[in-house]
Amino acid sequence: MIVLGIETSCDETGLALYDSERGLLAHVLHSQIALHAEYGGVVPELASRDHVRKTLPLLRGLFQQAGVGPRQVNGVAYTRGPGLIGALLVGAAIGRGLAWAWQVPAIGVHHMEGHLLAPMLEPEPPPFPFVALLVSGGHTLLVRVDGIGQYRILGESVDDAAGEAFDKTAKLLGLPYPGGPALARLAERGAPGRFQFPRPMTDRPGCNFSFSGLKTAAINTWRTLEPTVENRADVARAFEEAVVETLAIKCRRALKATRLKRLIIAGGVGANRRLRERLREVTAELGGQVHYPRLEFCTDNGAMIAYAGWRRLAAGQREDTAIEVLPRWPLDSLPAVD
Ligand code: KG4
Ligand code: ZN
Repeated sequence: MIVLGIETSCDETGLALYDSERGLLAHVLHSQIALHAEYGGVVPELASRDHVRKTLPLLRGLFQQAGVGPRQVNGVAYTRGPGLIGALLVGAAIGRGLAWAWQVPAIGVHHMEGHLLAPMLEPEPPPFPFVALLVSGGHTLLVRVDGIGQYRILGESVDDAAGEAFDKTAKLLGLPYPGGPALARLAERGAPGRFQFPRPMTDRPGCNFSFSGLKTAAINTWRTLEPTVENRADVARAFEEAVVETLAIKCRRALKATRLKRLIIAGGVGANRRLRERLREVTAELGGQVHYPRLEFCTDNGAMIAYAGWRRLAAGQREDTAIEVLPRWPLDSLPAVD
């Protein structure tokens, strides 16, 4: 079974073809970074319009790369939410339109389930059950995963998501959009240990997160300093260390509470090198194992949507012809797949 995946929830147009027999056939991505850079963040209406312009030309390139044609596609999966409503509607309308034209079933995929299943695209996919740390621009979630659609939320952010904290702090430090990767690059040059920022909510039981205070700590420190490259790098380093250490403490807690040994990390912040290293150490200390998607599948992409869509279509789930997208959509409301 070959499934076309379409991701348009935010500022990336991602398309992929996943074959249940041969695995991922091809994937293509167009990033809107250049389009939004001059505004310092994503402009939703510009994002929607760019998805309209890019999706079909990208689709042609995808088929060429994969060496298959539209008639070989057996199902279409698109991101149904959560995300920007206009951007979601573009992928949903195109996805449903193609499925109707090709007379194949369609399914709307939960964006965070896509992220959560992205490690399944790697050569050694993690077996269930496991704990998932989902860290993106919009969400920070710790989830117990017993199967597809069998999700128990162990903890979430009470304010900013981890990626959002990276982006906002980067902006306050004067770094260009998209701030997260720029801040991480700068932190590489920073001196460890010069500043110590709090590890929020680690002194309380549970696995919830709070990141908004960290950005205030970082900016208050930055304002007392000469605006030199070294000072900026040292603040970035301390901020990154505080986020990474906080996430590591909560992951350890979640693994201990569930008595599970396996951790998966997904979502854009999962591309952070220091976070990947730290969580490898934490799981090794507990005698467990950590799984990540390859770097390009940490951030938004069509491959994860094609994969998640395939798992649900293969289980017989499909939608009727009404198009509905969900800007907000709780992950633990999804139906299970046996
Ligand atoms: O999953 P994603 O591509 O989109 C959402 O679903 O939100 O995640 C994007 C987020 C952004 O906040 C971005 O700054 C962050 O992931 N990010 C990083 C890194 N690469 C991307 N944050 C820290 N370090 C990185 N290397
Ligand atoms: Zn995402």
